[in-house]
Amino acid sequence: MTAPDSDPSSDPASAPLDTWHRLAGTCVLLDGFHALKHAVRFGADIPVAVAVDRAAVLALADDLAPDIRDTLAGLLTEVAPGTYANLVPRPHPTEVAALAVRPSREAALEKLAHVPRTTPVVVLDNPRNLGNAGAVIRLAAGFGATGVVTTGTLDPWHPTVVRAGAGLHFATTVERLAVDELPTGPLFALDPEGDDIRGIKLPDDAVLAFGSERAGLSPELRARADHLLSLPMRPQVSSYNLATSVAMTLYHWSTATGSPL
Ligand SMILES: C[S@@+](CC[C@H](N)C(=O)[O-])C[C@H]1O[C@@H](n2cnc3c(N)ncnc32)[C@H](O)[C@@H]1O
Repeated sequence: MTAPDSDPSSDPASAPLDTWHRLAGTCVLLDGFHALKHAVRFGADIPVAVAVDRAAVLALADDLAPDIRDTLAGLLTEVAPGTYANLVPRPHPTEVAALAVRPSREAALEKLAHVPRTTPVVVLDNPRNLGNAGAVIRLAAGFGATGVVTTGTLDPWHPTVVRAGAGLHFATTVERLAVDELPTGPLFALDPEGDDIRGIKLPDDAVLAFGSERAGLSPELRARADHLLSLPMRPQVSSYNLATSVAMTLYHWSTATGSPL
């Protein structure tokens, strides 16, 4: 005879887990409280969310994000620690994870092409480091940039990028494009050999491009650039970190224009 508690249909967590397994291949993994918080705040479609200690996550929301507490309460299913560990590649200290629907490429292209554009698009030309890409998406979200476009092979929606971006992909537009598909607008490419950025006012519809961590700007991107700009840097220092360069450039834009922030 089957014991009642071994019947999967009697387990309240089984339906969410079925949903998780069905969607894990196509959805975006939100790993940890901050990623889930931002995704909820910025309107992500979240079909399933799990936590090892649901009450602890809701207490965290009471403390850090009361605005999304009720939404989280409706989303979260409690699962055993072993079940949670099997669902995520790198368990997060907050032991909460969710799946979100990745916005379609069509929707992203439409947002990137929309004119007039009131805030810049950031282009990362063949970035190699997932953490850098996430940090840049977080910056773009913070500055209200229109979006972040990557060229090359890195998937800007890779779980490690989403984790490094604290789930802020949903607060901007993130897509991978070829150099010849970049949005319209004056293209300012950042390079230590360019003209000093301090003498330039960056327009709101600027496309701001940054080179790869090792090789810098690709020949294709250089050929498309309208202006090459440098960030102030003392002689004998070769370059800044990619995400740091994006931070300085967005800050420069925000101080010189009527930034909407
Ligand atoms: C780590 S750097 C790349 C270094 C690479 N070895 C090179 O030759 O450019 C990554 C990107 O950050 C930006 N960057 C770094 N330092 C910069 C500076 N002083 N001025 C302008 N852009 C800079 C550029 O877009 C650069 O391609």
